[in-house]
Amino acid sequence: MKKITLETTVDVFENVDQLPENFSHLIKMAHGAVETAYAPYSHFFVGAAILLENGEFLIGSNQENAAYSMCLCAERVALAAAASKFPGVAVKAIAVTAKSNKKPIDQPISPCGACRQSLCESELQHHTDLQIILQGESGPIYFFKTAKDLLPFSFDATYL
Ligand code: THU
Repeated sequence: MKKITLETTVDVFENVDQLPENFSHLIKMAHGAVETAYAPYSHFFVGAAILLENGEFLIGSNQENAAYSMCLCAERVALAAAASKFPGVAVKAIAVTAKSNKKPIDQPISPCGACRQSLCESELQHHTDLQIILQGESGPIYFFKTAKDLLPFSFDATYL
C-alpha cells in the first residue's frame, strides 16, 4: 500500500487593503452583490464577483425558490452571466462573500461542491487557472490560486 498526500496552500490576508488592487475591487463588488441576493428561505445572502481576462467585472448572487432544489448559487449565477455576456472569455478570478440574518459571518465562506465543479469546468474550458477569493461579511480573506485546490480528484472531461 502507498499513500497519496495532498497539499493546498491558502494565502490569508487580514483585510482588503492587503490585496492587489484588482482583487480588492473584486471582493468589494462581491459585498455589493450580496444586496441583490434573493434568499427568503435560507436568509443566507451570497454575493459573487468575477474578473474576466478582458478586464470586465460581473456579479452574481444566490436566487432561491420555494421549490428548494431549484435554488441557484451565487457563484454559478455569476459564471453563467459571464459566459452569456462574454462567451469564450476566460474567468481570471472570482470573489465570494455572504451575510446572514441569523448570525454574523466573520469567517470566509466556501463554495459548495457543485460550484467547485463548475469553477473547475471553467478552468478546463479556458485552459487557465481561476483564482478564488473568499471572505465573510468581515474577517480574514482566503486566496486560492486555482479552483483545483478546492476540488481534488475532481471529475472532468479527461475521463470521457
Ligand atoms: N449558496 C451559494 O450561493 N453559494 C454556495 O457556494 C453555497 C450556498 C446559497 C444557496 C442557498 O441559496 C443559500 O446559500 C443557503 O445554502
